[in-house]
Amino acid sequence: MRTQWTPNSWRTKTALQMPSYEDTALLARIEGDLAALPPLVFAGEARNLQASLAEVAQGKAFLLQGGDCAESFAEFSANKIRDTFRVILQMAVVLTYAGSLPVVKMGRMAGQFAKPRSSDTETKDGVTLPSYRGDNINGLEFSEEARRHDPERMLKAYHQASSTLNLLRAFANGGYADLNRVHGWNLDFIKDSPLGARYEDLASRIGDTLRFMAACGVTSESVPTLRRTDFFTSHEALLLNYEEALTRTDSLTGEWYDTSAHFLWVGARTHQEDNAQIEFVSGIKNPLGLKCSPAMETDELLRLIDKLNPENTPGRLTLIARMGHDQVEEKLSPLVRAVKKEGRSVVWSCDPMHGNTMTAESGYKTRNFEHILQEVKGFFAVHKAEGTHPGGVHFEMTGQDVTECVGGAESISDEDLSSRYHTHCDPRLNANQALELAFLIADELKHIGGDPNLHTIEAAAAE
Ligand code: PEP
Ligand code: CO
Repeated sequence: MRTQWTPNSWRTKTALQMPSYEDTALLARIEGDLAALPPLVFAGEARNLQASLAEVAQGKAFLLQGGDCAESFAEFSANKIRDTFRVILQMAVVLTYAGSLPVVKMGRMAGQFAKPRSSDTETKDGVTLPSYRGDNINGLEFSEEARRHDPERMLKAYHQASSTLNLLRAFANGGYADLNRVHGWNLDFIKDSPLGARYEDLASRIGDTLRFMAACGVTSESVPTLRRTDFFTSHEALLLNYEEALTRTDSLTGEWYDTSAHFLWVGARTHQEDNAQIEFVSGIKNPLGLKCSPAMETDELLRLIDKLNPENTPGRLTLIARMGHDQVEEKLSPLVRAVKKEGRSVVWSCDPMHGNTMTAESGYKTRNFEHILQEVKGFFAVHKAEGTHPGGVHFEMTGQDVTECVGGAESISDEDLSSRYHTHCDPRLNANQALELAFLIADELKHIGGDPNLHTIEAAAAE
């Protein structure tokens, strides 16, 4: 029999990938401190997101979710937040324009601090230490002190998430996201690239449309949706001490919401049906994500859907497939078919990053842009064949000019990786690669619904 859900009922379950804190008294004090701090998001915002995701589930919108693999304390700055935000805006504008679908924008931001690892330990030059698990658990530096699991880091993560969210809200609502600024979102180092030019061309077309609309009386002043946007935050629900402390009852509905982010997902390593992470998210009302790896069986997926979305509410559950470029068609098709056959309403999203990680000859962990692109194409092909909506994409990306993934228009090579490799965990697309991918996805989206004339316009712009 199922026991009653409470924010701490996960504690009776097996919890994988969680830290082992030595000082339990200190842990309890930090949990108490966190529980007394204000919520980071409001339950009504999470409900608005769920309503937008319901549109995605029904094929009327597209989800764009992206950001760091792991946010870090060291790489925290206003410029970095702004640059990631603006690349997401650029990608969204490319997708909206080409796909003629509204785009739901979500950052892996303001809370993406805990990482599952394939090994508990790391050995370097004969020294073995605990693996790095994300800045709210321990530090990246390879020393005994840094790698100790420290509960006080959760407070620092909360405050960083709070400042990040504050700035994101300001950008989203304060004029930065005004469509009239569409040219201004182009980053300086992109402007001179072929992609930058392609983006400028698209921005000019949008500018022409806005001027025409302004002449008809439709302006940013008269229509708020032109001058502001909705931007949501998300992270993996992994470190449950942190998530529990930020779980509160909504005063309007009496329901439980995890107020650390609008959207929480469960990762590919922690979605066992009877384990802690699934127990925890099953009781919160935020919209949820579930990563699906090639190991996911159809009956297992259907049971997880029963648990996470028992009332079959559209927008409640996003399935994030991360199969790898060479397996996507084979592994995703049966899942999509079974979910459709059983009449379950879900958003299908494609994470073309996590099934395509490899070690380069140089020793760097990397991903090949070509593989990422192939997985996205495979994802669209599966949905076309099954008659379902390819609802969205999920990326690890940054607005910085890093060299972490090989390939793309700049042809980043294995030798280039060392020049600007800054990630705290997995390799991210840089701003150019992210934009390039958005144009390529836009091409796929055009075939499923957008204005067919756009294809010619876009192809001309690309020449
Ligand atoms: C992630 O999204 O950073 C991640 C660890 O993914 P997955 O759980 O799919 O491996
Ligand atoms: Co990752």
